[in-house]
Amino acid sequence: MPLEIVLGTQWGDEGKGRVVDLLAARADLVCRFNGGDNAGHTVTVGAAIFKLHLIPSGIIHPHTRAVLGCGMVINPLTLQSEAESLQQAGVDVSPSRLRISHAAHLITPAHLAIDRAQEQARRGDAIGTTGRGIGPAYTDKTARRGLRAGDILHPQEFRFALLEHLRSASLTLQKLYDLPALDVDALAEPYLEAAALLQPCITDTGLLLHQALAEGRTVLAEAAQGALLDLDHGTYPYVTSSTTTAAGALAGLGLGIRPVERVLGVSKAFQTRVGAGPFPTELAGAAADRLRGDGSQPWDEYGTTTGRPRRVGWLDGVLLRYTRRICGLTGIILTKLDVLSGLPEIPICTAYRHGGQVLADLPLGLMDLDGMEPVYEAQPGWQADISTARVWEDLPAAAQAYIRRVEQVCGVPVLHVSVGPERDQMVMVPA
Ligand code: IMP
Repeated sequence: MPLEIVLGTQWGDEGKGRVVDLLAARADLVCRFNGGDNAGHTVTVGAAIFKLHLIPSGIIHPHTRAVLGCGMVINPLTLQSEAESLQQAGVDVSPSRLRISHAAHLITPAHLAIDRAQEQARRGDAIGTTGRGIGPAYTDKTARRGLRAGDILHPQEFRFALLEHLRSASLTLQKLYDLPALDVDALAEPYLEAAALLQPCITDTGLLLHQALAEGRTVLAEAAQGALLDLDHGTYPYVTSSTTTAAGALAGLGLGIRPVERVLGVSKAFQTRVGAGPFPTELAGAAADRLRGDGSQPWDEYGTTTGRPRRVGWLDGVLLRYTRRICGLTGIILTKLDVLSGLPEIPICTAYRHGGQVLADLPLGLMDLDGMEPVYEAQPGWQADISTARVWEDLPAAAQAYIRRVEQVCGVPVLHVSVGPERDQMVMVPA
């Protein structure tokens, strides 16, 4: 009864969508367990590019069923439009295929307004959130006043609770942030309509998954964001508001630890970040432009959800070791190796210099990351285009050596590397 967890080892956008797409080919259930529509997972299948924010990317495989777990925060309006665009592309998103946990929390238009108001109030200290209401929805969850998907099943009470919530948020916006009142009725009606459409999908997904695992089915848990954005273990306060690490999959799906078979970390062959926060190996100028791309290609480094240019830098081996530790990684999938082709040499950060000392590990987690100076080791680059490589032997010796060095630096085997956005642009790495 295997449970496989796939997570991002960095600050998100590692290419989890395409890895999940690969693994979902042999999974029965594909699940999201954290976050909401702040995530953006891109999957390219031939001429079709799917950009998914809430629904697990594995739904694109017709044999799967998709689960939105209790650890998520769900905006019914976004879910409705995402389901519609998938249906138009020929993907079945009927209630038999899309199951939503009764205990998942709901994001409302008021959460979006508060998210934006809070960011504005932070001024120079803004976190750079996606503005999707994620933080305020999780705040209401922990304050034990949130609305949950299961509440939709009681329409009268749900309407009443929603109106109360919108009125209270409206007062907060006026009194605390000096902003105009919300038009509560205008916001409530379309929201209630979208929420009502979810009714047939709402169930105890923990029970569903438990039974599926007991029957020997394969469950794939797809994390959103990345481990370094984790609320507890990330670069706090420049983090998201959910548990993005492997442990989040268990709490966010309602499962125990025993079914876990593999924890796969998806890591870009370099490092990117959107939003504010420390980034020791960050590059500027021409070197950054080279890694980021100019935005003309869908795989260039611009946010899937916000379109913002991503900050870019060299692969950080210290942070990869940290993620290995906090997530118990069993393997790594290294993405976007093709982007490094043509560079004369490729630096990898293997340690930090701090206060006259060289540190292989961080003394206080990610707390003092800002003060860390990267110690680089330069690996020889390769000049050939590797996008047509399909087996290990197709890769130039320098690319093979780079992959082996990444394995040594982080202490986890690299299982696959991606050499382009297409489904088949993957190379299996021999043990
Ligand atoms: P929030 O999740 O919208 O509250 O944003 C908090 C931080 O997480 C910001 O720095 C965002 O840019 C970042 N973030 C949230 N979702 C993603 C994602 O899917 N990929 C990369 N960064 C993300």
